[in-house]
Amino acid sequence: MKHIALITGVTGQDGSYLSEFLLAKGYEVHGIIRRSSVDYRERIAHLEGTPHFHLHYADMGDSMSLVKLVDLVQPTEIYNLAAQSHVQVSFDAPEFTADVDAVGVLRILEAVRTNHLEKTCRIYQASTSELYGKVEEVPQNENTPFHPYSPYAVAKLYGFWIVKEYREAYGMFCCSGILFNHESERRGETFVTRKITLAAARIAQGKQEKLFLGNLDSLRDWGYAKDYVECMWLILQNDKPEDFVIATGVQHSVREFTDLAFRHVGIELKFEGEGIDEKGICVSGPEHLVGKALVEVSKDFYRPTDVVNLWGDPTKAKAKLGWDPGKTSFEQLVKLMVEHDMGKVAAEGAAEKVRTNLAEYLEKGIVK
Ligand code: NAP
Ligand code: GDD
Repeated sequence: MKHIALITGVTGQDGSYLSEFLLAKGYEVHGIIRRSSVDYRERIAHLEGTPHFHLHYADMGDSMSLVKLVDLVQPTEIYNLAAQSHVQVSFDAPEFTADVDAVGVLRILEAVRTNHLEKTCRIYQASTSELYGKVEEVPQNENTPFHPYSPYAVAKLYGFWIVKEYREAYGMFCCSGILFNHESERRGETFVTRKITLAAARIAQGKQEKLFLGNLDSLRDWGYAKDYVECMWLILQNDKPEDFVIATGVQHSVREFTDLAFRHVGIELKFEGEGIDEKGICVSGPEHLVGKALVEVSKDFYRPTDVVNLWGDPTKAKAKLGWDPGKTSFEQLVKLMVEHDMGKVAAEGAAEKVRTNLAEYLEKGIVK
Protein backbone atom coordinates (compact mmCIF):
# COMPACT_ATOMS: atom_id res chain seq x y z
CA MET A 1 0.00 0.00 0.00
CA LYS A 2 1.22 3.49 -0.82
CA HIS A 3 1.78 5.60 2.32
CA ILE A 4 0.47 9.12 1.94
CA ALA A 5 0.79 11.51 4.86
CA LEU A 6 -0.91 14.86 5.27
CA ILE A 7 0.76 17.10 7.86
CA THR A 8 -0.94 20.19 9.23
CA GLY A 9 1.64 22.47 10.87
CA VAL A 10 4.32 21.32 8.43
CA THR A 11 6.26 24.60 8.75
CA GLY A 12 6.58 24.24 12.53
CA GLN A 13 9.32 22.62 14.60
CA ASP A 14 7.68 19.18 14.72
CA GLY A 15 6.23 19.33 11.20
CA SER A 16 9.66 19.86 9.70
CA TYR A 17 11.26 16.92 11.55
CA LEU A 18 8.26 14.69 10.87
CA SER A 19 8.45 15.48 7.14
CA GLU A 20 12.09 14.42 7.05
CA PHE A 21 11.29 11.27 9.04
CA LEU A 22 8.39 10.21 6.79
CA LEU A 23 10.20 11.03 3.53
CA ALA A 24 13.08 8.81 4.69
CA LYS A 25 10.53 6.03 5.23
CA GLY A 26 9.33 6.35 1.63
CA TYR A 27 6.09 8.27 2.29
CA GLU A 28 4.57 10.78 -0.05
CA VAL A 29 4.27 13.83 2.21
CA HIS A 30 1.75 16.65 1.79
CA GLY A 31 1.81 19.70 4.03
CA ILE A 32 -0.56 22.58 4.70
CA ILE A 33 0.82 26.09 4.45
CA ARG A 34 -0.83 29.47 5.06
CA ARG A 35 -0.35 32.57 3.02
CA SER A 36 2.11 34.83 4.78
CA SER A 37 3.56 38.22 3.89
CA VAL A 38 7.00 36.64 4.21
CA ASP A 39 7.27 33.64 1.94
CA TYR A 40 10.46 32.06 3.24
CA ARG A 41 9.66 28.88 5.19
CA GLU A 42 12.88 28.47 7.11
CA ARG A 43 12.38 25.03 8.65
CA ILE A 44 11.31 23.25 5.45
CA ALA A 45 13.16 25.31 2.84
CA HIS A 46 15.60 22.42 2.32
CA LEU A 47 12.70 20.06 1.47
CA GLU A 48 10.85 22.31 -0.95
CA GLY A 49 11.20 21.09 -4.51
CA THR A 50 12.23 17.57 -3.52
CA PRO A 51 10.22 14.68 -4.99
CA HIS A 52 7.37 13.31 -2.85
CA PHE A 53 7.08 16.55 -0.83
CA HIS A 54 4.10 18.74 -1.70
CA LEU A 55 2.72 21.92 -0.14
CA HIS A 56 -0.86 23.18 -0.36
CA TYR A 57 -2.58 26.33 0.85
CA ALA A 58 -5.28 25.70 3.46
CA ASP A 59 -6.10 26.89 6.94
CA MET A 60 -7.33 25.22 10.12
CA GLY A 61 -10.01 27.89 10.29
CA ASP A 62 -11.33 27.13 6.79
CA SER A 63 -13.37 23.90 6.65
CA MET A 64 -13.81 23.93 2.88
CA SER A 65 -10.08 24.15 2.28
CA LEU A 66 -9.54 21.12 4.54
CA VAL A 67 -12.33 19.06 2.96
CA LYS A 68 -11.02 19.79 -0.55
CA LEU A 69 -7.45 19.02 0.39
CA VAL A 70 -8.26 15.69 2.04
CA ASP A 71 -10.18 14.76 -1.11
CA LEU A 72 -7.25 15.75 -3.34
CA VAL A 73 -4.54 14.03 -1.29
CA GLN A 74 -6.47 10.89 -0.14
CA PRO A 75 -4.14 10.51 2.85
CA THR A 76 -3.56 7.20 4.63
CA GLU A 77 -2.28 9.10 7.67
CA ILE A 78 -2.97 12.62 8.93
CA TYR A 79 -0.74 14.29 11.50
CA ASN A 80 -2.64 17.23 12.94
CA LEU A 81 0.16 19.40 14.32
CA ALA A 82 -1.19 22.84 13.39
CA ALA A 83 -1.87 25.05 16.38
CA GLN A 84 -1.43 28.44 17.95
CA SER A 85 1.09 26.71 20.18
CA HIS A 86 2.31 29.49 22.49
CA VAL A 87 0.70 29.29 25.94
CA GLN A 88 1.34 32.94 26.89
CA VAL A 89 -0.02 34.15 23.54
CA SER A 90 -3.23 32.19 24.17
CA PHE A 91 -4.06 34.64 26.97
CA ASP A 92 -3.87 37.50 24.41
CA ALA A 93 -5.63 35.68 21.55
CA PRO A 94 -7.94 33.16 23.27
CA GLU A 95 -10.63 33.05 20.59
CA PHE A 96 -8.20 32.45 17.73
CA THR A 97 -6.49 29.79 19.85
CA ALA A 98 -9.82 28.03 20.45
CA ASP A 99 -10.73 28.19 16.77
CA VAL A 100 -7.49 26.62 15.57
CA ASP A 101 -6.57 24.33 18.48
CA ALA A 102 -10.06 23.09 19.38
CA VAL A 103 -12.50 23.49 16.47
CA GLY A 104 -9.64 22.92 13.99
CA VAL A 105 -9.37 19.33 15.25
CA LEU A 106 -13.08 18.80 14.64
CA ARG A 107 -12.70 20.23 11.12
CA ILE A 108 -9.98 17.67 10.31
CA LEU A 109 -12.05 14.77 11.65
CA GLU A 110 -15.09 15.93 9.69
CA ALA A 111 -13.02 16.40 6.52
CA VAL A 112 -12.03 12.74 6.77
CA ARG A 113 -15.65 11.64 7.34
CA THR A 114 -16.98 13.85 4.55
CA ASN A 115 -14.58 12.15 2.16
CA HIS A 116 -15.54 8.66 3.46
CA LEU A 117 -11.99 7.91 4.53
CA GLU A 118 -12.75 7.04 8.13
CA LYS A 119 -11.87 3.36 7.65
CA THR A 120 -8.63 3.93 5.72
CA CYS A 121 -7.09 7.10 7.14
CA ARG A 122 -5.39 7.10 10.56
CA ILE A 123 -5.19 10.40 12.45
CA TYR A 124 -2.62 11.62 14.96
CA GLN A 125 -3.62 14.56 17.17
CA ALA A 126 -0.86 16.68 18.76
CA SER A 127 -2.07 16.76 22.32
CA THR A 128 -0.09 18.13 25.21
CA SER A 129 1.10 17.80 28.80
CA GLU A 130 -0.51 21.23 29.32
CA LEU A 131 -3.75 19.26 29.82
CA TYR A 132 -2.41 18.29 33.27
CA GLY A 133 -1.98 22.02 34.01
CA LYS A 134 -2.46 22.64 37.71
CA VAL A 135 -1.20 19.14 38.27
CA GLU A 136 -3.08 16.70 40.43
CA GLU A 137 -0.21 14.16 40.69
CA VAL A 138 3.46 13.75 39.75
CA PRO A 139 4.69 12.23 37.57
CA GLN A 140 1.79 12.34 35.10
CA ASN A 141 0.62 9.31 33.09
CA GLU A 142 -2.32 8.39 30.84
CA ASN A 143 -4.61 8.05 33.90
CA THR A 144 -3.74 11.34 35.60
CA PRO A 145 -6.76 13.68 35.75
CA PHE A 146 -6.62 16.76 33.53
CA HIS A 147 -6.72 20.28 34.95
CA PRO A 148 -6.08 22.70 32.05
CA TYR A 149 -4.70 26.03 33.21
CA SER A 150 -4.60 28.37 30.16
CA PRO A 151 -6.82 29.16 27.16
CA TYR A 152 -4.38 27.06 25.10
CA ALA A 153 -4.80 24.04 27.36
CA VAL A 154 -8.58 24.36 27.47
CA ALA A 155 -8.67 24.40 23.65
CA LYS A 156 -6.36 21.39 23.47
CA LEU A 157 -8.61 19.56 25.95
CA TYR A 158 -11.47 19.85 23.47
CA GLY A 159 -9.16 18.43 20.78
CA PHE A 160 -8.30 15.48 23.03
CA TRP A 161 -11.94 14.65 23.81
CA ILE A 162 -13.28 15.09 20.28
CA VAL A 163 -10.64 12.66 19.01
CA LYS A 164 -11.68 10.14 21.66
CA GLU A 165 -15.34 10.70 20.79
CA TYR A 166 -14.82 10.08 17.04
CA ARG A 167 -12.81 6.96 17.85
CA GLU A 168 -15.67 5.56 19.90
CA ALA A 169 -18.63 6.90 17.90
CA TYR A 170 -17.37 6.10 14.38
CA GLY A 171 -14.65 3.49 14.99
CA MET A 172 -12.00 5.81 13.53
CA PHE A 173 -8.30 5.14 14.07
CA CYS A 174 -7.56 8.48 15.70
CA CYS A 175 -5.21 8.94 18.66
CA SER A 176 -3.69 11.65 20.79
CA GLY A 177 -0.03 11.81 21.72
CA ILE A 178 0.15 13.62 25.05
CA LEU A 179 3.55 15.12 24.43
CA PHE A 180 5.62 16.84 27.08
CA ASN A 181 7.83 19.77 26.07
CA HIS A 182 10.24 18.97 23.29
CA GLU A 183 12.84 21.33 22.00
CA SER A 184 15.49 21.57 19.30
CA GLU A 185 17.64 23.84 17.16
CA ARG A 186 14.39 24.60 15.31
CA ARG A 187 12.35 25.57 18.38
CA GLY A 188 10.49 28.88 18.09
CA GLU A 189 12.60 31.69 19.52
CA THR A 190 10.06 32.83 22.14
CA PHE A 191 9.80 29.48 23.93
CA VAL A 192 11.93 29.52 27.04
CA THR A 193 14.66 27.05 26.04
CA ARG A 194 15.44 28.66 22.69
CA LYS A 195 15.21 32.13 24.20
CA ILE A 196 17.88 31.05 26.70
CA THR A 197 20.24 29.32 24.25
CA LEU A 198 20.10 32.24 21.82
CA ALA A 199 20.67 34.77 24.62
CA ALA A 200 23.59 32.77 26.05
CA ALA A 201 25.19 32.73 22.58
CA ARG A 202 24.56 36.46 22.04
CA ILE A 203 25.85 37.46 25.48
CA ALA A 204 28.99 35.32 25.01
CA GLN A 205 29.59 37.02 21.63
CA GLY A 206 28.99 40.53 22.99
CA LYS A 207 25.71 41.07 21.11
CA GLN A 208 23.29 41.18 24.04
CA GLU A 209 23.67 42.52 27.56
CA LYS A 210 21.05 40.68 29.59
CA LEU A 211 18.44 37.97 29.45
CA PHE A 212 15.03 38.71 31.01
CA LEU A 213 12.97 35.68 32.01
CA GLY A 214 9.77 34.95 33.96
CA ASN A 215 9.27 32.12 36.43
CA LEU A 216 12.67 30.48 36.99
CA ASP A 217 11.21 27.82 39.32
CA SER A 218 8.96 26.32 36.67
CA LEU A 219 9.68 22.62 36.13
CA ARG A 220 9.51 20.84 32.79
CA ASP A 221 10.22 17.42 31.32
CA TRP A 222 12.21 18.49 28.25
CA GLY A 223 12.97 16.09 25.39
CA TYR A 224 14.40 16.35 21.88
CA ALA A 225 11.84 17.03 19.12
CA LYS A 226 13.61 14.71 16.64
CA ASP A 227 13.06 11.76 19.01
CA TYR A 228 9.41 12.71 19.59
CA VAL A 229 8.31 12.74 15.93
CA GLU A 230 9.29 9.07 15.70
CA CYS A 231 6.77 8.42 18.45
CA MET A 232 3.99 10.17 16.54
CA TRP A 233 4.55 7.69 13.73
CA LEU A 234 4.77 4.71 16.10
CA ILE A 235 1.41 5.68 17.64
CA LEU A 236 -0.21 5.35 14.21
CA GLN A 237 1.51 2.01 13.49
CA ASN A 238 0.14 0.47 16.72
CA ASP A 239 -2.37 -2.36 16.23
CA LYS A 240 -5.14 -0.38 17.96
CA PRO A 241 -5.86 3.32 18.39
CA GLU A 242 -4.73 4.47 21.83
CA ASP A 243 -3.48 7.64 23.52
CA PHE A 244 0.10 7.81 24.82
CA VAL A 245 2.14 10.02 27.14
CA ILE A 246 5.46 10.88 25.51
CA ALA A 247 8.11 12.23 27.89
CA THR A 248 11.63 11.57 29.08
CA GLY A 249 10.70 10.92 32.72
CA VAL A 250 13.27 13.50 33.87
CA GLN A 251 12.45 16.95 35.23
CA HIS A 252 14.48 20.20 35.41
CA SER A 253 13.76 23.84 36.26
CA VAL A 254 14.08 26.88 33.99
CA ARG A 255 16.93 28.00 36.29
CA GLU A 256 18.80 24.71 35.73
CA PHE A 257 18.37 25.01 31.95
CA THR A 258 19.73 28.57 32.09
CA ASP A 259 22.67 27.60 34.29
CA LEU A 260 23.71 24.76 31.96
CA ALA A 261 23.26 26.78 28.76
CA PHE A 262 25.50 29.56 30.08
CA ARG A 263 28.10 27.00 31.22
CA HIS A 264 28.29 25.75 27.63
CA VAL A 265 29.31 29.21 26.43
CA GLY A 266 31.94 29.51 29.17
CA ILE A 267 29.94 31.60 31.66
CA GLU A 268 29.31 30.45 35.23
CA LEU A 269 26.27 31.99 36.91
CA LYS A 270 25.36 32.30 40.57
CA PHE A 271 21.68 32.91 41.29
CA GLU A 272 20.98 35.40 44.09
CA GLY A 273 17.74 36.88 45.45
CA GLU A 274 14.19 35.62 45.20
CA GLY A 275 11.16 35.96 42.92
CA ILE A 276 11.14 39.14 40.90
CA ASP A 277 14.46 40.21 42.52
CA GLU A 278 16.38 37.08 41.55
CA LYS A 279 19.45 37.64 39.39
CA GLY A 280 21.97 35.38 37.66
CA ILE A 281 25.38 36.94 38.31
CA CYS A 282 28.42 35.99 36.25
CA VAL A 283 31.02 34.55 38.66
CA SER A 284 33.44 33.30 36.07
CA GLY A 285 33.89 33.74 32.33
CA PRO A 286 35.11 36.59 30.11
CA GLU A 287 36.66 39.29 32.37
CA HIS A 288 34.31 42.09 31.25
CA LEU A 289 31.27 40.05 32.29
CA VAL A 290 32.41 38.92 35.76
CA GLY A 291 30.28 40.49 38.51
CA LYS A 292 27.52 41.55 36.09
CA ALA A 293 23.89 40.44 36.37
CA LEU A 294 23.34 38.65 33.06
CA VAL A 295 19.96 37.14 33.91
CA GLU A 296 17.09 39.07 35.48
CA VAL A 297 13.44 38.40 36.16
CA SER A 298 10.74 40.48 34.50
CA LYS A 299 7.02 40.42 35.31
CA ASP A 300 6.35 40.68 31.55
CA PHE A 301 7.03 36.96 31.25
CA TYR A 302 4.78 35.88 34.12
CA ARG A 303 1.49 34.27 33.07
CA PRO A 304 -1.94 34.89 34.66
CA THR A 305 -1.92 31.17 35.54
CA ASP A 306 1.26 29.15 35.08
CA VAL A 307 1.85 25.42 34.85
CA VAL A 308 4.84 24.76 37.06
CA ASN A 309 5.30 21.03 37.63
CA LEU A 310 5.26 18.93 34.47
CA TRP A 311 6.92 15.53 34.71
CA GLY A 312 5.87 12.68 32.44
CA ASP A 313 5.82 8.95 32.93
CA PRO A 314 6.57 7.30 29.54
CA THR A 315 6.17 3.69 30.78
CA LYS A 316 3.28 2.87 28.41
CA ALA A 317 5.05 4.23 25.29
CA LYS A 318 8.17 2.31 26.24
CA ALA A 319 6.33 -0.97 26.76
CA LYS A 320 3.80 -0.84 23.91
CA LEU A 321 5.63 1.13 21.22
CA GLY A 322 9.21 0.15 22.07
CA TRP A 323 10.10 3.84 22.17
CA ASP A 324 13.30 4.87 23.98
CA PRO A 325 12.70 7.98 26.16
CA GLY A 326 16.40 8.22 27.06
CA LYS A 327 17.77 8.60 23.51
CA THR A 328 18.79 12.24 23.99
CA SER A 329 19.57 13.37 27.55
CA PHE A 330 18.80 16.82 28.98
CA GLU A 331 22.53 17.59 28.95
CA GLN A 332 22.86 16.57 25.28
CA LEU A 333 19.79 18.62 24.37
CA VAL A 334 21.10 21.81 25.99
CA LYS A 335 24.52 21.27 24.40
CA LEU A 336 23.22 20.74 20.89
CA MET A 337 20.94 23.78 21.09
CA VAL A 338 23.70 26.02 22.44
CA GLU A 339 26.24 24.81 19.87
CA HIS A 340 23.74 25.49 17.09
CA ASP A 341 22.98 28.98 18.37
CA MET A 342 26.65 29.87 18.85
CA GLY A 343 27.06 29.13 15.13
CA LYS A 344 23.89 31.00 14.19
CA VAL A 345 24.85 34.12 16.14
CA ALA A 346 28.38 34.08 14.73
CA ALA A 347 26.97 33.78 11.19
CA GLU A 348 24.54 36.65 11.86
CA GLY A 349 27.58 38.67 12.88
CA ALA A 350 29.42 37.77 9.68
CA ALA A 351 26.41 38.73 7.55
CA GLU A 352 26.08 42.00 9.47
CA LYS A 353 29.77 42.74 8.91
CA VAL A 354 29.41 42.15 5.16
CA ARG A 355 26.39 44.50 5.12
CA THR A 356 28.25 47.16 7.13
CA ASN A 357 31.32 46.90 4.90
CA LEU A 358 29.13 47.08 1.81
CA ALA A 359 27.36 50.20 3.12
CA GLU A 360 30.74 51.80 3.81
CA TYR A 361 32.13 50.83 0.38
CA LEU A 362 29.00 52.18 -1.31
CA GLU A 363 29.31 55.42 0.63
CA LYS A 364 32.94 55.79 -0.32
CA GLY A 365 32.16 54.90 -3.92
CA ILE A 366 34.43 51.82 -3.76
CA VAL A 367 31.59 49.66 -5.10
CA LYS A 368 28.64 50.85 -7.11
P1 NAP B 1 5.05 25.36 16.16
O1 NAP B 1 6.49 25.32 15.83
O2 NAP B 1 4.47 26.56 16.80
O3 NAP B 1 4.24 25.10 14.79
C1 NAP B 1 2.86 25.31 14.70
C2 NAP B 1 2.40 25.05 13.28
O4 NAP B 1 0.99 25.27 13.18
C3 NAP B 1 3.06 25.97 12.24
O5 NAP B 1 3.32 25.23 11.07
C4 NAP B 1 1.95 26.99 11.97
O6 NAP B 1 2.03 27.57 10.68
C5 NAP B 1 0.73 26.07 12.04
N1 NAP B 1 -0.51 26.81 12.18
C6 NAP B 1 -0.88 27.67 13.15
N2 NAP B 1 -2.11 28.17 12.93
C7 NAP B 1 -2.55 27.60 11.76
C8 NAP B 1 -3.73 27.71 10.99
N3 NAP B 1 -4.75 28.52 11.34
N4 NAP B 1 -3.84 26.97 9.86
C9 NAP B 1 -2.82 26.18 9.46
N5 NAP B 1 -1.67 26.04 10.14
C10 NAP B 1 -1.53 26.73 11.28
O7 NAP B 1 4.64 24.11 17.07
P2 NAP B 1 5.44 22.75 17.37
O8 NAP B 1 6.31 22.96 18.55
O9 NAP B 1 5.98 22.19 16.12
O10 NAP B 1 4.23 21.84 17.91
C11 NAP B 1 3.45 21.06 17.02
C12 NAP B 1 2.14 20.70 17.69
O11 NAP B 1 2.38 19.96 18.88
C13 NAP B 1 1.28 21.89 18.11
O12 NAP B 1 -0.07 21.50 17.94
C14 NAP B 1 1.58 22.07 19.59
O13 NAP B 1 0.49 22.67 20.24
C15 NAP B 1 1.77 20.62 20.00
N6 NAP B 1 2.67 20.37 21.12
C16 NAP B 1 3.94 20.86 21.10
C17 NAP B 1 4.80 20.56 22.14
C18 NAP B 1 6.22 21.08 22.15
O14 NAP B 1 6.84 21.03 23.22
N7 NAP B 1 6.77 21.51 21.04
C19 NAP B 1 4.36 19.75 23.19
C20 NAP B 1 3.06 19.26 23.16
C21 NAP B 1 2.23 19.56 22.11
P3 NAP B 1 2.82 28.96 10.42
O15 NAP B 1 4.27 28.58 10.28
O16 NAP B 1 2.20 29.45 9.17
O17 NAP B 1 2.58 29.84 11.62
N1 GDD C 1 8.18 31.44 26.96
C1 GDD C 1 8.75 31.78 28.12
N2 GDD C 1 9.52 32.92 28.17
N3 GDD C 1 8.55 31.00 29.21
C2 GDD C 1 9.17 31.35 30.36
C3 GDD C 1 9.99 32.48 30.46
C4 GDD C 1 10.16 33.31 29.32
O1 GDD C 1 10.85 34.32 29.33
N4 GDD C 1 10.48 32.54 31.72
C5 GDD C 1 10.00 31.50 32.38
N5 GDD C 1 9.19 30.77 31.57
C6 GDD C 1 8.44 29.58 31.98
C7 GDD C 1 6.95 29.61 31.60
O2 GDD C 1 6.22 30.37 32.56
C8 GDD C 1 6.62 28.12 31.64
O3 GDD C 1 6.30 27.74 32.96
C9 GDD C 1 7.92 27.45 31.20
O4 GDD C 1 8.95 28.45 31.30
C10 GDD C 1 7.92 26.89 29.78
O5 GDD C 1 7.42 27.89 28.91
P1 GDD C 1 7.47 27.71 27.30
O6 GDD C 1 8.85 27.37 26.86
O7 GDD C 1 6.82 28.90 26.72
O8 GDD C 1 6.61 26.39 27.04
P2 GDD C 1 5.22 25.89 27.64
O9 GDD C 1 5.53 24.76 28.57
O10 GDD C 1 4.40 26.99 28.15
O11 GDD C 1 4.50 25.32 26.34
C11 GDD C 1 5.19 24.46 25.42
O12 GDD C 1 5.09 23.11 25.84
C12 GDD C 1 3.73 22.60 25.87
C13 GDD C 1 3.82 21.16 26.37
O13 GDD C 1 3.86 21.13 27.76
C14 GDD C 1 4.56 24.69 24.03
O14 GDD C 1 5.33 24.00 23.08
C15 GDD C 1 3.13 24.15 23.98
O15 GDD C 1 2.67 24.20 22.64
C16 GDD C 1 3.14 22.69 24.47
O16 GDD C 1 1.84 22.16 24.46
